[in-house]
Amino acid sequence: MESVTLIINLAYVLAAALFILGLKLLSHPSTARKGNVISAIGMLVAVVVTLLDHDILSYHWILLGFAIGGAYGAWKAKSVEMTEMPQMVSLFNGFGGAASLLLGWSTISQQATAGFSALSGAVLTTVVLTILIGGVTFSGSVIAWGKLSGRMGAKAVIFTGLRELSIAHLLGFLVVGYLFVSEPANPAWLYATIALALSFGVLATISIGGADMPVVIALLNSYSGVAACAAGLAVSNTILIVTGLLVGASGLILTNIMCKAMNRSLMNVLLSGFAKPVEAAEKIEGEVKILPAQDAFYVLEAAQAVLVVPGYGMAVAQAQHAVRELQTLLEENGCTVEYAIHPVAGRMPGHMNVLLAEADVPYDQLYEMDEVNPRMENYDVVIVIGANDVVNPAAKEMKGSPIYGMPVIEAYRAKTVFVLKRSANAGFAGVDNPLFFKDNTRMVLGDAKDTINTIIREFGDD
Ligand code: TAP
Repeated sequence: MESVTLIINLAYVLAAALFILGLKLLSHPSTARKGNVISAIGMLVAVVVTLLDHDILSYHWILLGFAIGGAYGAWKAKSVEMTEMPQMVSLFNGFGGAASLLLGWSTISQQATAGFSALSGAVLTTVVLTILIGGVTFSGSVIAWGKLSGRMGAKAVIFTGLRELSIAHLLGFLVVGYLFVSEPANPAWLYATIALALSFGVLATISIGGADMPVVIALLNSYSGVAACAAGLAVSNTILIVTGLLVGASGLILTNIMCKAMNRSLMNVLLSGFAKPVEAAEKIEGEVKILPAQDAFYVLEAAQAVLVVPGYGMAVAQAQHAVRELQTLLEENGCTVEYAIHPVAGRMPGHMNVLLAEADVPYDQLYEMDEVNPRMENYDVVIVIGANDVVNPAAKEMKGSPIYGMPVIEAYRAKTVFVLKRSANAGFAGVDNPLFFKDNTRMVLGDAKDTINTIIREFGDD
């Protein structure tokens, strides 16, 4: 028996090592695919060993769940459009939270017949935490999914009484949590905990505006890990604790990176729904200057230094391959081409890097915002491809703006700016963009891929 326990523990150590190695490899686009496979193998080892570690009465339901979940997951992963990835990742976080909630719930249900004698106060506390954090993660992630998929508006929903309602929830957590631990046989406290957790997740996420969503998504990711860790403590499963800690810690690191990228403190983002409303931003006045793609070609043909700033619209238009082709033509014409990647461009961390890597854009031509901003005046042309919020000068110029203070790529300081999008509408944060009205900006309207293909054809005709 002891040798079985030893083998199981060794397998857990192996799984944990595979997770850590996987995480390390995930930190660079060139090794990320390998990291994913290695982490998946780690998870398979962990699941198989956990099953062997328990007295399973019947494998039927487990195998059925494995077959249905595995088949659906494989089909979804194959068929999902790249533009739908951010909301899918959000759902993954949510399901992680829901799984922890259900595990906490089942731990309690199992004890109902045994009279809860096997559960100490400490274990019951971890069960409450599992249900609370899991529930908040689930409902919060569903709202994030709604915002990212466009099923809900991205703007913050703030109403009178929101602040009081949220404070009431926090107090409710303490009271119901205490009652749950002291009277676990009463199912009312279990259901009240679940209900409070779910409604708090909704409240906390609807009140956060579009521009702050990257921080929220990273934080929900971290919560899903913390919930799993609490679940691991509740059911005494070592590998669940380790996995939860790894996800929780890496999610926190990502949250910190996102906060830094947006020049916001975590508290500032989380409490944004409770803050005093800022004065409305002043109205932007001016005229948008439209340039046909054919004319944009003449300017690009004469350019010596071009900076490409991609954003979410490049993902929508799937324009990355066309961008790569344009880069080659410009370089053959003696022009240097660089890319500026804003940390929150697109809808998920590393979104632009993934797309550009897919199109074989060399990594060494990708620069961070802080590297390109000081030399912005040197670029003859900045081509903004489907980006909006990440190049919005309102973040610097307009005090009342919801994105005021967020660091942006200062494209407006270049000699000429081409903005490739379909209209002068606002981006995800819902904030108007003064860049479109600047003297040195030309809007090249239309689908980004069509526009770039038109410019490419002009190069060919030349
Ligand atoms: P956005 O500000 O969302 O702007 C994207 C622009 O792309 C839109 O204004 C849209 O304008 C244009 N567009 C859409 N389809 C297009 C097409 N087919 N061809 C050409 N243009 C197209 O994007 P961004 O500058 O990348 O900023 C990202 C925003 O998302 C930030 O507010 C960020 O906080 C938020 N966010 C980011 C993340 C992460 S982690 N990256 C997660 C959640 C939220 P038209 O409709 O006029 O074409």
